[in-house]
Amino acid sequence: MKSSLAINGGPKTIDRSFDWPVFDESEVNAVADVVRSGKWGNPDCGDLVKDFEDEFAAFCGAKYALTCVNGSVALRLALIATGVRPGDEVIIPPYTFIATSTIVLEANCVPVFVDIDPDTYNLDPSKIEAAITKRTRAIIPVHFAGQACDMDKITAIAKRHNLKVIEDACHGHGAEYKGEKLGSIGDAGCFSFQSSKNLTCGEGGMVITNEEKLYEMMNSLRNVGRVKGGQWYEHHFLGCNYRMTQLQVTILSTQIKRLADQTIRRHENGTYLNSLVSKIDGIKPLVRGVGETLHSYHIYIFKYNKSKFNNLPKSEFAKMLAAEGVPCFMGYPQPLYKQPLFQKKNFMCYAIPEEVDYAKVCCPVTEKACYEEAVWILQHAMLGPKEDMEKFAEAILKIQKVVSA
Ligand SMILES: Cc1ncc(COP(=O)(O)O)c(C=O)c1O
Repeated sequence: MKSSLAINGGPKTIDRSFDWPVFDESEVNAVADVVRSGKWGNPDCGDLVKDFEDEFAAFCGAKYALTCVNGSVALRLALIATGVRPGDEVIIPPYTFIATSTIVLEANCVPVFVDIDPDTYNLDPSKIEAAITKRTRAIIPVHFAGQACDMDKITAIAKRHNLKVIEDACHGHGAEYKGEKLGSIGDAGCFSFQSSKNLTCGEGGMVITNEEKLYEMMNSLRNVGRVKGGQWYEHHFLGCNYRMTQLQVTILSTQIKRLADQTIRRHENGTYLNSLVSKIDGIKPLVRGVGETLHSYHIYIFKYNKSKFNNLPKSEFAKMLAAEGVPCFMGYPQPLYKQPLFQKKNFMCYAIPEEVDYAKVCCPVTEKACYEEAVWILQHAMLGPKEDMEKFAEAILKIQKVVSA
């Protein structure tokens, strides 16, 4: 009976709220203390920002960490600091947030899209080398949804071709590859603290690295081109004010105390949900185990096969599942290169060579993920008890039964 579906007014399979962010009086008091101190800014206004950077670097097992205004800027700082020149090419996946590509354009470089692996939805290492030219300078692997990329293969390719590796770990706070924290493996690793992220203060970003020279350059670019030991009105590089405030980091210092436990909870729930959904005809979890030892499940992704759901389009299925009370949606509607930005080359003042034509790009695995397969359950839904996972699977089965009747 179609009327039993929650989207048609029937009872929800799971009827409770999933709150994010998780906080209590510790965050409230920490912010109040900073407000009372009158030391809100950075630099030269209290030690909280530097203290949190040191804490985050230690947490990730990296030498240096640098806060900034958001994850996009973290990527921008890292790419520019590697010394890319106009017209250089940077390899990125097309199944990611737009910022992974726009920071390349903003550096006057050319994003080169390489398709994702159908099992993991991460950059497919077997397709990277065919995309490398004499202009390629960097690879930006995105640890999509919090699942580690195949870093051994990617760093080996980078080494062979003398390329920089900038990890987009904006989904990967606390997640691990072969026991190492994501972000700490390449030349630099970038994080976002935007509201939906697994570690958040509303907006914010961080870049980590083990290379002192890279750190010094990123620090200068973040701080309007000032240099260590220089004067306040002395500017050496084309930077900007990308600094974070003490108000933001005080929330992060409190939130990070919850991160390790939350990551383990999401990881365990994800593993359990995999075992449940893989029993449903027409549903497949993404494959784990290319070296990922801790998955942060910023997104729990499963593949949907409409032929087992009476040809119900994925977008309709995702709406029905959300109505059943599962915090989910259909994810990216199209690959990045299909965005008007790329199709129309609306790059304004940025100089991308004439011959670059994104209308010719086709990455079939990404297209299938966007148009047909991928359904996303959001990270805050992965923090509850195991019973929630059972309800999520039950909701999928309920929809299948009703639409197939
Ligand atoms: C994969 C990825 N990279 C980069 C970013 C950019 O982060 P921010 O929104 O903090 O600029 C995001 C944000 O959603 C993201 O999902």
